Amino acid sequence: MLRERVHERGAGRDFASRWSPVVPRPVPVGLPMKVLTHPAAMRAWSDGRRQSGRRVVVVPTMGALHQGHRALIDEARRHGEDVVVTIFVNPLQFNSSTDFQGYPRPIDDDLSTCAAAGVDAVYAPTAAVMYPPGFQTHVEPGALADRLEGEHRPGHFRGVTTVVAKLFAAVRPDVAVFGQKDAQQLAIVRRMVSDLDLGVDVVSMPTVREPDGLAMSSRNRRLSPAERDAAVCIWRGLQALGAAVDAGERDPAALTATGVAPILAEPLARLEYLELVDRDDFEPVRSVGAGPVLAVTAVWCGEVRLIDNIELP
Ligand code: PAJ
Repeated sequence: MLRERVHERGAGRDFASRWSPVVPRPVPVGLPMKVLTHPAAMRAWSDGRRQSGRRVVVVPTMGALHQGHRALIDEARRHGEDVVVTIFVNPLQFNSSTDFQGYPRPIDDDLSTCAAAGVDAVYAPTAAVMYPPGFQTHVEPGALADRLEGEHRPGHFRGVTTVVAKLFAAVRPDVAVFGQKDAQQLAIVRRMVSDLDLGVDVVSMPTVREPDGLAMSSRNRRLSPAERDAAVCIWRGLQALGAAVDAGERDPAALTATGVAPILAEPLARLEYLELVDRDDFEPVRSVGAGPVLAVTAVWCGEVRLIDNIELP
């Protein structure tokens, strides 16, 4: 009954009983990095740091760390004295058990990556710690979460806001670093921080890409070689769209048509959406040029769903 209530809004519902806890192994002796798995321990560590006048910066992740995460960690270092990386594959924000179960969890590699990056503490709670029996309170995002990703992944952003609020409560950061790759998530987190007076400075970082332009993502490693080759059509589409803007095109319909063409031409890719939206409220724009606009897209390559976006000048 509890789990049904926890997952009553869709995301995570049908596979709640199959949560697989991520239990980090101890860090090799000699590394100063702390690994914490309980909110009370995390809070105590963080409070201690802040009491000695240090600013704590958090980078929330679901692990399977790549160069995009690394860029966030390096940026975090510029905003405070202590960097905390959270690693938690959050069941509340997944829509299918295949995606949740198949999400990579290379915890040993991730801990090594964090240690090598000079991270001060990793917070890696288990699902049982995050969502114990009786858990029933969620953070409900507003209209920002209704469109695009929210429309195609019901309950997803509610899972994100809930877990981010919990991670903030455990880490009590001064600053949090998020990637622009998940642009709608970034906007929703900013809104939550403002609406709930959380007092955390949200810093964003540009998307880090593979040499051929594919946005780095933990999900990329689930692509077959053929799907990986096909996935570059997303970047081609966004680039074509950006080039059309540079050439003077301002009409969203014409720009969208230009952007989707390379994706529709790729047999292994299936377009879910590509839209031009206002960067702040994610509403569709009537024209490009007035304010900051994002071209946002979601594309399936085989069984893997990839998202990307670019900001238009
Ligand atoms: P995850 O997908 O692991 O991403 C963690 C952070 O890394 C997010 O802020 C995301 O935008 C950023 N990121 C991912 N790929 C990036 C890239 N190629 N370049 C730059 N930044 C990139 O986003 C989540 O986890 C979760 O929803 C989370 C916020 C942790 C809540 O569970």
